[in-house]
Amino acid sequence: MPDAEPKITSERDTIRRTLLVAFLVSLLCSSLVASAAVLLKPRQEANEARHMRRNIVDVAGLLESGQEFEELLGHIETRVVDLQTGSYVDHVDELRFDPVKAARDPALSLAIPEELDAAGIGRRSKWGSVYLVRKGGVLETIVLPVRGRGLWSMIYGLLAVEPDANTIVGITFYEHGETPGLGDQISKRPWRDSWSGKQLFDESNDLKIEVVKGRVPPDSPLAPYHVDGISGATLTGRGVTSALQYWLGDHGYGPYLQRIRSQPEGS
Ligand SMILES: Cc1cc2nc3c(=O)[nH]c(=O)nc-3n(C[C@H](O)[C@H](O)[C@H](O)COP(=O)(O)O)c2cc1C
Repeated sequence: MPDAEPKITSERDTIRRTLLVAFLVSLLCSSLVASAAVLLKPRQEANEARHMRRNIVDVAGLLESGQEFEELLGHIETRVVDLQTGSYVDHVDELRFDPVKAARDPALSLAIPEELDAAGIGRRSKWGSVYLVRKGGVLETIVLPVRGRGLWSMIYGLLAVEPDANTIVGITFYEHGETPGLGDQISKRPWRDSWSGKQLFDESNDLKIEVVKGRVPPDSPLAPYHVDGISGATLTGRGVTSALQYWLGDHGYGPYLQRIRSQPEGS
């Protein structure tokens, strides 16, 4: 009986000490995680930039040249375009500008009217990045970033065209969450290769590029603009078409592409 009170005090002390230790451990862990996130951010950003550059080199068909990756990077010039006018913007740090991040900043972006938002992205930055691939100073390829909603996910891609701003050199989809074996075929070689040589616009300057359901009949008058659909992934293919229609249209890179087509470099 006489030692009942001291026992309660020591139990309380133990609980307090346990809570204090748990608090200190969680404080230490959260500081470690926060410091790691801050310290690793520059490396993560550098990795993302390198990944992007590798995709640009790949979609432009430069990897087949056999040159070293670092050497190939020397062929790429990054520019920023005012999407409304189609003119280059010179007061922006091209290498740091990220159109996807800028689309989340109200000062740098605009809401896309619903009737124009074929890609289902809601907002876009006022400016867009373009990557110009030159060899010996001569423009060989123009690479444009595109993105839009697929069946399950946002699809991020790059489209490479010849200096005529019309003939497709290549396409790649480097980030998406479509189903392996179905929608994810958009990022695989056999399907990507089927885009080479296709045309974006017809002679009347109408945007005609489209992923169709099934196979494109070779004798179809639309064969130059139509790409075979992926079996069992019609909806992902439709997402790709919608993303291209938005980004190559008047609200996307359309004014830039028209400017390039009417005033080709060196003309
Ligand atoms: C588990 C599962 C995953 C699917 N993933 C995709 C996909 O990534 N992309 C797609 O377009 N369709 C996908 N589909 C199929 C669509 O629901 C739809 O049936 C299909 O797009 C119709 O295309 P088809 O006309 O070529 O058969 C998936 C279906 C199932 C059951």
